[in-house]
Amino acid sequence: MRIFVAGGAGYVGSHTVKALVAAGHEVTVFDSLVAGHRDAVDPAAAFIRGDLADGRALADVLKQGRFDGVIHFAAFLNVGESVEKPLMYYRNNVTNTLNLLEAMEAADVRRIVFSSTCAVYGEPDRLPITEDLPKAPINPYGATKLAVEGMLRDSAGAWGLAAVALRYFNAAGAAADGSIGEDHSPELHLIPLVLQVALGQRENIKIFGTDYPTPDGTCIRDYIHVDDLASAHVRAIEGAKPGELEAFNVGTGRGNSVREIIEACRSVTGHAIPAIEQARRPGDPPSLYADASKIKARFGWSARYVDVRETIESAWRWHSAHPAGYAN
Ligand SMILES: NC(=O)c1ccc[n+]([C@@H]2O[C@H](COP(=O)([O-])OP(=O)(O)OC[C@H]3O[C@@H](n4cnc5c(N)ncnc54)[C@H](O)[C@@H]3O)[C@@H](O)[C@H]2O)c1
Repeated sequence: MRIFVAGGAGYVGSHTVKALVAAGHEVTVFDSLVAGHRDAVDPAAAFIRGDLADGRALADVLKQGRFDGVIHFAAFLNVGESVEKPLMYYRNNVTNTLNLLEAMEAADVRRIVFSSTCAVYGEPDRLPITEDLPKAPINPYGATKLAVEGMLRDSAGAWGLAAVALRYFNAAGAAADGSIGEDHSPELHLIPLVLQVALGQRENIKIFGTDYPTPDGTCIRDYIHVDDLASAHVRAIEGAKPGELEAFNVGTGRGNSVREIIEACRSVTGHAIPAIEQARRPGDPPSLYADASKIKARFGWSARYVDVRETIESAWRWHSAHPAGYAN
């Protein structure tokens, strides 16, 4: 297939591009590099530097490319920033996705896989999280993703779009061959932050909240390996069908606490990794982990990395070889 990947120079996008190329697809990455890295893009993929805000450029590229499908990663994803600057988030995550969908309809590209998030569930009252639980985001970031799911659902019904929303849990790890990995700036994700302590780039790791109703008092999350996310996208773009939006959780089905992650990082790196306990942050649900049986039934996908230690080992290979990320 000829696949247009918006945001393909970012963390999850670049790993998916690599997997698409390996599966024999012809890939064009479209990315503004506002957060991504040119060097993260597989050399076998074409690269266009462009912004989804530029609807005209987008329309031209989609018309000329004769694409079979689109995978859409491009978004802002800093939850705290979304609370401070909600309109910036609605503009990039929602308005610019509207541009993309309009350009797709005009160019007759009728297949899309979209990066959604477990943040659409807000603070679920049941675990593990199944797709039918209420969608009640508690921050603007999650609200923008739910808004896009609405546009996809309505488009699927109206103009025959085949649409899949993948609701990822916490993306983690790096490519098994060590060639690409995670480099967000600022870094906000737990595993790279802990590994920065091991690299001497940070003095300690802060644990926000040790009095949650979890076995060790710290928050529990589902850490899904980025290569597993990549393979879920390959299956979804190949298997998407028109009719109605299909939404799937993409997680391991296992939860790991903040303390467990820090302990696993100590064991993988051999570094003491000092931790400082602090008060809870507002808006952090105690526990989030997926029931991923729906995507298994539909696409035969399940996570290959289920032991978080292996995920951390892959991240550590990347970070220790690239302590300054892509600037190396
Ligand atoms: N990383 C996670 O744990 C996680 C979890 C759930 C969902 N997601 C979603 O997955 C997607 C990818 O996340 P990521 O961690 O790879 O983020 P990322 O920031 O590394 O990648 C996003 C990419 O989109 C590009 N981009 C942003 N706005 C653009 C625009 N207007 N035009 C063109 N390019 C633009 C950026 O330059 C970047 O390369 C996001 O949509 C995010 O909301 C991520």
